[in-house]
Amino acid sequence: MTGAQRAKLWRQPEAAAGALYTRLASKRNFARVFITLAFCAIFYNFYSSSELRKSLNDRLQQTMSASPSIQVVEQTEPNMPICSNEPTLESNNGTEKATLVMLVRNREIREALSSMRSVEDRFNRKFHYPWTFLNDKPFTKDFIEYTTGMASGPVEYQVIPKEAWSIPKSINTTIVKQEMAEMTRQNIIYGGSLSYRHMCRFNSGFFYNMEVMKKYDWYWRVEPGIELYCDIEYDPFTFMRTNNKIYGFVITMYEFEATIKTLWSRTKEFEIDGNYNLCHFWSNFEIASLNFYRSEAYTKYFEFLDSAGGFFYERWGDAPVHSLGVGLFAPKDKIHHFADFGYSHPPCSRCPQDDESHKSGRCYCNRAVNFDTNSYSCMPRWWDGMLNSIDNLCGILY
Ligand SMILES: *[C@@H]1O[C@H](CO)[C@@H](O)[C@H](O)[C@H]1NC(C)=O
Ligand SMILES: *[C@@H]1O[C@H](CO)[C@@H](O)[C@H](O)[C@H]1NC(C)=O
Repeated sequence: MTGAQRAKLWRQPEAAAGALYTRLASKRNFARVFITLAFCAIFYNFYSSSELRKSLNDRLQQTMSASPSIQVVEQTEPNMPICSNEPTLESNNGTEKATLVMLVRNREIREALSSMRSVEDRFNRKFHYPWTFLNDKPFTKDFIEYTTGMASGPVEYQVIPKEAWSIPKSINTTIVKQEMAEMTRQNIIYGGSLSYRHMCRFNSGFFYNMEVMKKYDWYWRVEPGIELYCDIEYDPFTFMRTNNKIYGFVITMYEFEATIKTLWSRTKEFEIDGNYNLCHFWSNFEIASLNFYRSEAYTKYFEFLDSAGGFFYERWGDAPVHSLGVGLFAPKDKIHHFADFGYSHPPCSRCPQDDESHKSGRCYCNRAVNFDTNSYSCMPRWWDGMLNSIDNLCGILY
């Protein structure tokens, strides 16, 4: 109402009262209709739900009186597919002293979960092996909560002790800094990264002695961001134990020579003669014996390498160190290639080549995309057996 209209009503009181009365009357009518409708709706709802309850009750009574057994209810849906996997899921629980182990940072939670999802779906949901998470920093509440939720077995978290993740006193850090700067200048992959060096040294000589690992004989290394392309229907730990294997791999490749300039000459000082062809098992996937690394031979080898300082002055990777260790101290027939595994760790992946593995494993990888036949892969050497020239060494290395 404008000021002018209000002024007019003020001057014409009867007209104003009339207008007001009409407005109130229409409001009252509306309220009446509304209340009536609402009442109807409430009544209808109440009535129909009591009807529904009654009819449900009737049906339940009928079913119950037909047979007191609960199974009868299931029989009312005879076309439900029966999940034939169900009984074996329970009975297949893993029985080895083994763990899935992941070295991971809190910020990699998404990649960690996607790896877990893949390993659980393709393998562990049937075996419920425990997961072990290692980190040089305390895990966040979120990390623990989500990874625990993803695991189908027990979960443990350990913060890596300082001495396993720091530069030993014997190392000259001035030289380390110079070398890192030089490797950065040469664009060598992770050449300028100190944390990558800690990671390689930790994986080479410490992970198997962590407190949480002591109760296990076997580990499966799972890295954030990996994927399994095929079902794994058997227990690979049992396979390793019963077939007398100590080290299992899926992908091999050549190491960047610039990262391990003196690794081989140091190894020769320690042990033997020969040439190293830079081949290594790609260690982001490993199913292997922890007791192998705990053995006196490997322990001494690692300590020797560590004292040489190459983990810091150069950038020795855990892959060539593991591979050389295995090559030096285990005969070739204790090493297993999981040719039936489909595996991806970007940027490389492999796919089983035989029909049988594809069918039984329900693989979804493309067989043509297979690092095994890439020119950087050492698989041709593995298959050739040509490399068995030095006795008691894992032919792949020489
Ligand atoms: C298998 O492992 C799961 C999880 O650890 C456990 O709940 C279940 O009872 C086990 N089943 C058998 C048959 O041992
Ligand atoms: C570390 O190396 C630098 C450069 O070679 C050298 O000047 C320095 O004396 C060394 N420090 C020690 C403690 O050996």
